[in-house]
Amino acid sequence: MWTLPRLIGSLALPTMLLFPLAASAQANRAAEPEGEKAPAVQVDDNAFRCMLDMTKVRHFYVDNLSGRLAETVAVAQAGTGDYPEGSVVQLVPNEVMIKQQKGFSPITRDWEFFWIDVDTNGSKIFRRGFVEVNNRFEMNCFACHVKAHAQNDFTCGAEGGGCDPIPLTREMFGALQRTDPRCPNRPPVSTEDAAALKMVSEVVEAMKTANASNRTMSEDAPKK
Ligand code: HEC
Repeated sequence: MWTLPRLIGSLALPTMLLFPLAASAQANRAAEPEGEKAPAVQVDDNAFRCMLDMTKVRHFYVDNLSGRLAETVAVAQAGTGDYPEGSVVQLVPNEVMIKQQKGFSPITRDWEFFWIDVDTNGSKIFRRGFVEVNNRFEMNCFACHVKAHAQNDFTCGAEGGGCDPIPLTREMFGALQRTDPRCPNRPPVSTEDAAALKMVSEVVEAMKTANASNRTMSEDAPKK
């Protein structure tokens, strides 16, 4: 005959075996809440490299962190279509777009925006993210790039454009690329590039001044 203690004893073993499983399933759920996904493309400071070692397409450079460079180059050359996961696109050394997995950030078409600091030692991520990232002039990456024509997958310089313009010329972009401090074999600075870089620094100064006076009007003025 089954007594109560024997019944409890016979249930105890399976319960003990089951409980840790239930507990660990709970812990896994806590670590990865449903609906939240981790970015598939892991990006740290070492993901970035000398622009001149990337693949040049027209006036900009591309790469792929997921082994899909041929697909990335094909989209860049076509100037239309969706870039594959892992795509890296750069026009200047400090600003980078990297494509995360499909569905990760629908509002930015899965692009993650980066502002990186670069010097002879390499790259350091200064800012990264999706809609919230601003460039060095506190202008929002997303706000400009969202205006790109739909077939250009958030890229502004592709045929058609559509984005708000940036006050730099092709000569200035080229000079910034050729003088990327991370490139050990960068060519000596030509007279033309030196002149273009001087203009870049004048534009940067003008933008900073403009932004400073905007701040004075919008934030500082009411306090006075
Ligand atoms: C004022 C609008 C504006 C802002 C702000 C802006 N961009 Fe752009 N971006 C452009 C335009 C316009 C081009 C194309 C320039 C060209 O090719 O002549 C461009 C080009 C690029 C390219 C090369 C691919 C392409 O779209 O043609 C990358 C990568 C890029 N920007 C990243 C960024 C990142 C990252 C930020 C923020 C840190 C940023 N941009 C902020 C307007 C902007």
